[in-house]
Amino acid sequence: MNILILGSGGREHALAWAVKQNPKCDRLIVAPGNAGIAMLAECADFDILDGSAVVTFCEENAIDFVIIGPEAPLAAGVADSCRAAGLLTFGPSAAAAKLEASKAFTKEICDACAAPTAAWARFTEAAPARDYIRRQGAPIVVKADGLAAGKGVIVAMTEAEALDAIDDMFGGEFGAAGAEVVIEEFMQGEEASFFILTDGTHALPIGTAQDHKRVGDGDTGPNTGGMGAYSPAPVLTEAIQRQAMEEIVLPTIAEMARRGTPYQGVLYAGLMIDGGRARLVEYNARFGDPECQVLMMRLGAQALDLMLATAEARLDEVQVVWDEDHALTVVMATQGYPGAYAKGSQIRGLEELPEDSRHMVFHAGTANREAQIIASGGRVLNVTARGNTLTEARNAAYAMIDRIDWPGGFCRRDIGWRALSE
Ligand code: AMP
Ligand code: GLY
Repeated sequence: MNILILGSGGREHALAWAVKQNPKCDRLIVAPGNAGIAMLAECADFDILDGSAVVTFCEENAIDFVIIGPEAPLAAGVADSCRAAGLLTFGPSAAAAKLEASKAFTKEICDACAAPTAAWARFTEAAPARDYIRRQGAPIVVKADGLAAGKGVIVAMTEAEALDAIDDMFGGEFGAAGAEVVIEEFMQGEEASFFILTDGTHALPIGTAQDHKRVGDGDTGPNTGGMGAYSPAPVLTEAIQRQAMEEIVLPTIAEMARRGTPYQGVLYAGLMIDGGRARLVEYNARFGDPECQVLMMRLGAQALDLMLATAEARLDEVQVVWDEDHALTVVMATQGYPGAYAKGSQIRGLEELPEDSRHMVFHAGTANREAQIIASGGRVLNVTARGNTLTEARNAAYAMIDRIDWPGGFCRRDIGWRALSE
């Protein structure tokens, strides 16, 4: 079949890598793609936020299956346009993607289905929000309701910080995303991510992961989009996964269906685990980046069969074949990230690295310049390896990093530390 993947990051490179290994895939196109993706698929350039442009491209290229990577096209209704045109599509409708696009909506759903999550309140004006913060005290969490590229959440350790966040949000720092603000109870515990495929009715867990949000070793420095990840996440034991399915995921899927907006795609549940129980932190309507890279490394070619079963509403007929393995990915970023950084530094040595079912460098922000690979973003490479133990996967990933010649880049040296020290 002919398959189109939308997106341009390491997540989409990993999706393309897994899909390409499946013999069902005849032709693979990624839009817009990047320099790494271009080594295994065709890349196409059109506006992936424009549903009618996506449909036209699919019709002109006889596309049989569309996989939507990032949240922006989902929130823009690209899955709706594709399905309305009769295209087999992986990814939720705009109405269902509200589970990521609106934090207040997610909280409403949790309340409606009694899913455990932090206590919360919503505000459209600053004065009552300030009163609420003064009554509740710190620590407390202030969130812009809408999509803010991962920056709209302030975990305030003091009341003053929380009040400042209110001023910033209602002052327009996050644009329309901050027109409504959600204030939440601060939850203690260890965070982990749980990934579930759902076709609207059935649900199939496809793995757990943990990422590293801070830029520096030992979880120091500013927040980033993620500096590395590993799968599985030991904190998400079988028992806690069962509890999360029964109390959070399945009730959410049922509530979305009951409202006439069934959720179809991958549901990414961010969980806080404390005292042997999970509570929901947030949902995302897509694979995590870089969590997808470790999930795809473990799933391989079957990822396509699972995504097809999701789109064709027959998830009850498939199962995941697991190895007792571990995968770990280290993000290499441009010096300066997540602050200001220069583009265009040259990366050497990639062509000498192994590329097989246990080793892969996924590209997140690269471009080609005169047959050289250059950095074109903040997060640039996801150096990913699989092993029989997490230690083996970690050592293999860092051994690859040590062979990459890129003076303009850096990475954390401690990815996996939490799981490795347990
Ligand atoms: P979100 O975008 O909702 O995932 O929030 C970003 C990050 O803020 C999460 O990954 C958590 O580390 C943290 N966070 C969000 N909500 C809470 C909460 N209620 N309690 C503690 N930490 C939180
Ligand atoms: N790695 C976190 C995310 O994709 O949202």
